[in-house]
Amino acid sequence: MGISVRNLVKSYGMVTVIQAISFDVADGEFVTLLGPSGCGKTTTLRCIAGLDTPNGGTIAINGRVVSDPTRDVFVPPHERDLGMVFQSYAIWPHLTVSQNVAFPLTVKARRDSAARTAEAVSWALGVVGMGHLADRRPSELSGGQQQRVALARAIAARPQLLLFDEPLSNLDARLRDRTRLEISRIQKELRVPTLYVTHDQTEALSMSDRVIVMEAGAVVQEGTPETLYHRPVNRFVADFIGNANFLAVHRDGQQWRLEDGTPIAVDVGDGAGDGLGLGGGDGCGLG
Ligand SMILES: Nc1ncnc2c1ncn2[C@@H]1O[C@H](COP(=O)(O)OP(=O)(O)OP(=O)(O)O)[C@@H](O)[C@H]1O
Ligand SMILES: [Mg+2]
Repeated sequence: MGISVRNLVKSYGMVTVIQAISFDVADGEFVTLLGPSGCGKTTTLRCIAGLDTPNGGTIAINGRVVSDPTRDVFVPPHERDLGMVFQSYAIWPHLTVSQNVAFPLTVKARRDSAARTAEAVSWALGVVGMGHLADRRPSELSGGQQQRVALARAIAARPQLLLFDEPLSNLDARLRDRTRLEISRIQKELRVPTLYVTHDQTEALSMSDRVIVMEAGAVVQEGTPETLYHRPVNRFVADFIGNANFLAVHRDGQQWRLEDGTPIAVDVGDGAGDGLGLGGGDGCGLG
């Protein structure tokens, strides 16, 4: 169950921006795609949502293959049973708060009775604490409130999957912290598998069960926040994840030494790549 991505490839013209990546999001799990601008996070999310067409690989949502170009399988976005929250809230200015939240419930694929729609809308607005503003229009709301409307809209249909693309980046620092906690709480309450995209390591480390670090369309490392912090596989991950310090070391028999000859204890983690993680302390990576 959850999401299963296998060898996903996406090209624009001659340029391949997603290089056969594979990862899973287990049932109820909160997984973050973390990486610098342009590494392919949004493209990956859009492929999962069905807003982009992959060139290769398979995507399955709760065991159902929704994309497989070699077999001509492509399930359209509205049939993938997912809720998505974007960086720009993408809510309709001419609709009220409750009409916005009701919108996905009224599209053809899942037209519910008016009473059931109203019930779902009031539940979703209650979850995000916006019930009292149901009749306002977006222009009468703050940025944080608009983002909560977008969140309510994403969960109203009780989707099997939640996707977030940098949902906090338009909020000021205080609101960002509060909304971050709120998203975590709601995800735990609903226990729905969630894929979250950010380039902010603090967000990634504080919210996620697991983090997938991407660079140039490929997965560099995936693991728990703790693993990434203490055992980065290379300099890129160490640099990106923490306020890393890089020390040049050399080996002198069994002893590792700094450049000036000072002996140093080095803990070489299991499965470490070309980098070394220093155990404990504040997440130094050795280059
Ligand atoms: N429609 C498109 N046509 C051509 N190239 C595209 C298109 N969309 C994205 N790209 C390219 O694909 C690569 C990945 O873009 P993507 O938007 O997935 O990055 P990102 O990791 O989400 O970055 P950011 O953190 O800035 O949002 C980039 O090099 C981008 O220029
Ligand atoms: Mg992006």
